[in-house]
Amino acid sequence: MADTERSILLNPGPVTLSNRVRQALIRDDWCHREPEFAELTREINDHLVRVYRETACDFESVMLTGSGTSAVEAMMANFAPRDTATLVIVNGVYGKRIAEMLKVQGKPLHISEVNWDQPIDMQSVAAALDQHADISHIVAVHHETTTGRLNDLNPLGELCREREIPLLLDCVSSFGAEAIDVEGWNVVALAATAGKCLHGVPGIAFVLARKSLWATGLVAPGSVYLDLSAYYQGQHGTGYSPFTQSVQPAFALREALKELEEEGGWEQRRSIYRRRAGEIAMILQKLGLKTLLRPEDYSCVLWSWLLPEGYTYESVHDYLKQQGFVIYAGQGELGKQIFRIAHMGDISSDDLDRLMKALGNCFDGG
Ligand SMILES: Cc1ncc(COP(=O)(O)O)c(C=O)c1O
Repeated sequence: MADTERSILLNPGPVTLSNRVRQALIRDDWCHREPEFAELTREINDHLVRVYRETACDFESVMLTGSGTSAVEAMMANFAPRDTATLVIVNGVYGKRIAEMLKVQGKPLHISEVNWDQPIDMQSVAAALDQHADISHIVAVHHETTTGRLNDLNPLGELCREREIPLLLDCVSSFGAEAIDVEGWNVVALAATAGKCLHGVPGIAFVLARKSLWATGLVAPGSVYLDLSAYYQGQHGTGYSPFTQSVQPAFALREALKELEEEGGWEQRRSIYRRRAGEIAMILQKLGLKTLLRPEDYSCVLWSWLLPEGYTYESVHDYLKQQGFVIYAGQGELGKQIFRIAHMGDISSDDLDRLMKALGNCFDGG
């Protein structure tokens, strides 16, 4: 890689930062228990619920210092019931992780699982609800980053509405770039992070939940750090959080949210990601590569590609890294079968041109 060329992250977060967001990281030193940080916390929480028109009125946000997993775990700790069961929909690593969280939290759960390359099986979800009268909540992953599948939540949401079942959603790798129909899907809470489609840096995650849930729907979390009622009371009261907050990542997130808004919001970001996905798919398909899923099943955020004969993940990764691009391995059993390319971050048309050349050289037979 020439010195003047940038290193581009094509892994599913952290993302390549824009200069504007990077610059925001190196402003003043602030204490998280001073009024200016309380004001910044309010500003970010207000902005987070406005990223989607649909959440602007009825949802409130709470920020945590942690990665995406901290927000998902906090959502499950505070909003999944102790006395009734939660049905966990699993078609990848992140659904499985949520089931583990509930087990660790000692909460009743049932699991509706399909192979990781399969869509949600609505028949088995409906059967689980019929069979287990103790299910009161459902939790699902919106974009299952394991494969890149954008789970179709319309049928699941319809079922949730019909049966009046609240839906909890892991939106860690979709928030800011895919549609989230909180009304149509009966979503009461969702978890997400600064460091993926919002183009902030890792270190801040957040939970958006309906106002009614913050008021009366919290469950004793069995955790000190992940007690969202303490964060809610602090951030929406005095403005202060119970624990030390990630100050510089908050500067970056404020800037990233402004940038997203100025660039046209999540819908525009989705168009940009879709364009990148299309360009990358065109060259890889021309080179004979095949996708793990049907192209129409993918999110705009990330696609998974089958490794062609004669290539290992390491060989592809190392070659592309040398050319300035970081791709991502498959997880679990998919580790030997696929590689993943994410489309997030500040990627210019020059970067994309370089990527096309690098992919061409990597897969043109050696
Ligand atoms: C859908 C989904 N949920 C949860 C996570 C966990 O986020 P983190 O690695 O930031 O803890 C990820 C990470 O990629 C994800 O894609």
